[in-house]
Amino acid sequence: MLKLSVIGAGTMGIGIAQVAATAGWDVVIHDINNDTLEKSSVSLGKVMNRLVEKEKINQATADKILERINFTEDRQYFEDSDLVIEAIVENMEIKKKVFEAIEKSVRKDTIIASNTSSLSLASIGSFLENPSRFIGIHFFNPAPLMPLVEIIPAMQTAEETTRQAKDWLNSWNKLTVLAKDTPGFIVNRVARPFYGESLRIYEENIADFATIDWAMKELGGFRMGPFELMDFIGNDINYVVTETVFQSFFYDSRYRPSFTQKRMVEAGFLGRKSGQGYYDYSEGANKPESIRDEKLGNKILYRTLVMLINEAADALFLNIASREDIDTAMTKGVNYPKGLLKWADEKGIGWCVEKLDGLYEEYREDRYRCSPLLRRMNKGGNTFY
Ligand SMILES: NC(=O)c1ccc[n+]([C@@H]2O[C@H](COP(=O)([O-])OP(=O)(O)OC[C@H]3O[C@@H](n4cnc5c(N)ncnc54)[C@H](O)[C@@H]3O)[C@@H](O)[C@H]2O)c1
Repeated sequence: MLKLSVIGAGTMGIGIAQVAATAGWDVVIHDINNDTLEKSSVSLGKVMNRLVEKEKINQATADKILERINFTEDRQYFEDSDLVIEAIVENMEIKKKVFEAIEKSVRKDTIIASNTSSLSLASIGSFLENPSRFIGIHFFNPAPLMPLVEIIPAMQTAEETTRQAKDWLNSWNKLTVLAKDTPGFIVNRVARPFYGESLRIYEENIADFATIDWAMKELGGFRMGPFELMDFIGNDINYVVTETVFQSFFYDSRYRPSFTQKRMVEAGFLGRKSGQGYYDYSEGANKPESIRDEKLGNKILYRTLVMLINEAADALFLNIASREDIDTAMTKGVNYPKGLLKWADEKGIGWCVEKLDGLYEEYREDRYRCSPLLRRMNKGGNTFY
């Protein structure tokens, strides 16, 4: 039987353990914090009970999955792992220590992976003596429910490592996409305007939170509006991701964070978890009414959509991932109603270029520059598909 070791029994680690054990792997999950290990073990038991109650799996299967997962404070159990996935705090210094120690406690052919969302894999790989066996395996939260996994080879990664990681993840019932080791990989890069452009629309006083959310959901078909989603993710988390992406792109204005969100974080308006974010989540609070004006709604939707399309087109232009993988990443990693490149074809490449150039003309900000790929395609009369 193949064996996975997971380091870090937090939100992601425990989800990854469940996914692998469900696929029949033996799993060891390690954390430095014994309380976390105990809590995670209890919560995993509850998840399994719920799956049995909902008749998604039977009791015998649930028992087998739980039997396959061992919780330990001791790293020596990593010894005969085929794969190790690190899912500890997002801190380079701490990761460095952990990776140096992992390599000493596993076989020479064990594949070693990181679930990092924002750190450079080339940097993490450099902590290993043999980085050719190292790779990024980026799950989405909650790992057992989200079908997408981004596979990110570092500069040092061997082709065989990438192929093996992809095969294993596919055997765990995950849809894999291949992304270049660049900030935000595919999803967290391409999705930036969903938040950033919505915040900008609000800051320009074009519409309030509720109206922007209404437009994106009702007219765009997105499952959640940007402000609802930021409240759900937590403004602190979402702000830090934006700030990190902005810094990592050498301060490209396209990714500039917003003062509105910064002030929300400073005020402690973190979203659902603090009871107040863009919306009030206290008991009995009324949700503000949106202005259901279709003309205004389309203005909001199309401005945000064209910025998302521009980001997706630029990711393809810069060879971050393939056309299919960019569309799969956004529909399966963040539940977009349609792939953005497919959407671009539907709206027309000429429409996209005209809309972006219109924004650029109006604001004269580099943020609204049209991707050279869209411009080139427009000239050639091409489509993505
Ligand atoms: N939460 C998400 O939505 C999400 C999604 C994708 C990727 N990630 C990435 O996954 C990683 C983990 O995120 P999370 O949300 O599960 O964090 P978390 O805070 O829920 O869990 C991290 C766990 O790591 C443990 N830990 C810290 N230092 C350790 C060490 N030296 N050895 C062993 N365990 C240690 C902590 O005790 C904690 O239980 C991060 O790199 C993050 O960027 C998070």
